[in-house]
Order: sequence, then structure tokens, then C-alpha cells
Amino acid sequence: MRGRSWQTVRVELDGGIAWVELNRPDKRNAMNPTLNSEMVEVLLALDADDACGLLVLTGAGDSFSAGMDLKEYFREVDEQAEHVQRRVRRDANYWQWRLLRTYAKPTIAMVNGWCFGGAFTPLCACDLAIAADEATFGLSEINWGIPPGSLVSRGLAETVGVREALLYIMTGRTFDGRKAAEMGLVNSSVPRERLRAEVEALARELLDKNPVVLRAAKLGFKHAQTMSWDTAEDYLYAKLEQSQFLDRTHGREQGLSQFLDEKSIRPGLETYRPEA
Ligand code: COA
Repeated sequence: MRGRSWQTVRVELDGGIAWVELNRPDKRNAMNPTLNSEMVEVLLALDADDACGLLVLTGAGDSFSAGMDLKEYFREVDEQAEHVQRRVRRDANYWQWRLLRTYAKPTIAMVNGWCFGGAFTPLCACDLAIAADEATFGLSEINWGIPPGSLVSRGLAETVGVREALLYIMTGRTFDGRKAAEMGLVNSSVPRERLRAEVEALARELLDKNPVVLRAAKLGFKHAQTMSWDTAEDYLYAKLEQSQFLDRTHGREQGLSQFLDEKSIRPGLETYRPEA
């Protein structure tokens, strides 16, 4: 991963955190086919890189992302052969939700500014999200003649309430970071100058947790949402057993012992101390 660079994405690895920046600030980080195919490469490379324990998705300059690139993703691709259209769409969906939604490492969307249309798909696919108060969100598709594209509506259905989703889908009205937090689209919103520090503090908190258990916990929650209770019961117990099998550090035993035998932690209030 180190030493690699991309035309439309910037990656900075710092103490376990991969800061992944959509990097077309002149175009408000609109997602064109190049960016989409580069993001596939970036996500796969970071998945394989032990230096990355957690991924933050954000945008360069004053934008998170102005959504799909209306010129390069829509107009220019409309004129291409059908198989090209399929590839372009496949790349977009592959990173924006297929890879991101069930990414093996924790993901946080850091919404620093403009966030429109197609940008809601990766936003909703990330595990957690923090926005700048000043960020501007909008489901602007209605304003230029299409219903929300990609998996935007699916992501919204899982993230916010029906009335809020339909209001913004149907009117194209914009809203700010505070409103996004109020409706549950992001976890919280802070003044822009505090955004990176806030995201970093959350990232460090997550990096202190057992990564195998964290993965089982987040995937278990996401997948179980669409299951019946019966299926979920079986799946979630299997997930729990899988995480104990895969956790070579035996975190559960350490946690139980530190609470029950040593009486050195209170897991209600703090995480166990992994043995060196
Ligand atoms: N697709 C393609 N190009 C885009 C774009 C998009 N989604 N969003 C912005 N750009 C381009 C503009 O065409 C312009 O390019 P130019 O300098 O070559 O003319 C450049 O980015 C700057 O855009 P501009 O509108 O001048 O910036 P702004 O800061 O005044 O406004 C936005 C920012 C995001 C409000 C505005 O660009 C906008 O409404 N973009 C479209 C958002 C949208 O509907 N997205 C949904 C797509 S699914």
C-alpha cells in the first residue's frame, strides 16, 4: 500500500487510521468512473494492509462529494457501449456499498462539506458518520430529472425514518450537519474546525477494541436487520462462535478473567486490557 498513489483518491495512513480522501476538489469530488475504479483498488489494498485498522472516508477541500459526476458518469457513459455502461455501474456499486457496507475494518464517514445524491450511498454504507455543522446535504436528483440513483434510497431506508427520507427525496431541499445528526443520518455534528479531532477520537476508541469481535459485531448487526428472528438467532450465535474461534488472542477469556478473578476491570465502564 505504501508508496502507491491514485489520480482521484488520496490515502494517508497514520497510526492505524487510513484517511481516504475523494480528491477532485475542483469538481466538488463528484464521483466519475476513474474515481470509482480507483476506490475499488484503494479499498481492496487497505483491506489487505495490516497498517490499516480503520478507514475514514472524507473529501478534499470544501466537499465530501457532490454525488455522481453528471458529465462523466451520466452524459458521457450514456453514449458508450452497453458493456461499458455495465462496468462503470459495477465499479460504482462495488465500492460504494458492496465493499464498504461489509468492510472487514470499521469505517467512519467524515462529512466535511457538500454531500449530494450518489454520495449518500457510501455515507450510509459506512458504519458511523460525523459531519461538520456547516456541511450541506441534499437529495438533489429530483432537481435535475431522476429519482435517487444507485442504492441511495436503500441506504436511507436503513438509516433514517420514512418521513424524513421522503421529504428530502421529494423536495430536494438541503439540510445541514446538525439536522443530519438529528435525523440519525450521522452520529453527531461538530463545528468544522473540530471535525477531524472528533473523528480521530472516535477512531482511536474503536482501535482499542478487539478487531475480530468488532467485525463480528458490526456484520452481525447489519446482516441480521433483514432476517427473521429465527434465522437471526441461529446466525448471531454462529457469528458469536465464529468470533471466538477466529480470535487467537482469546479476548473473551481475558475479559472474563480480568473482571471475575482479578477484579481489575469493570466491563460496563471500560474495555479489557489485551495481554502483550
Ligand atoms: N457532476 C459533475 N460536475 C460537478 C458536479 C457533479 N455532480 N458537482 C460539481 N461539479 C463541477 C461543476 O460543473 C463545476 O465544474 P467547472 O468548474 O468545470 O464548471 C465545478 O464542479 C464547481 O461547481 P460549482 O457549481 O461551480 O461549485 P459551487 O461550490 O458553487 O456549488 C454544488 C457546489 C455542489 C452545490 C454544485 O456544484 C452542485 O449543485 N453540484 C451538483 C450536485 C448534484 O446534484 N449531485 C447529485 C449527483 S447524483
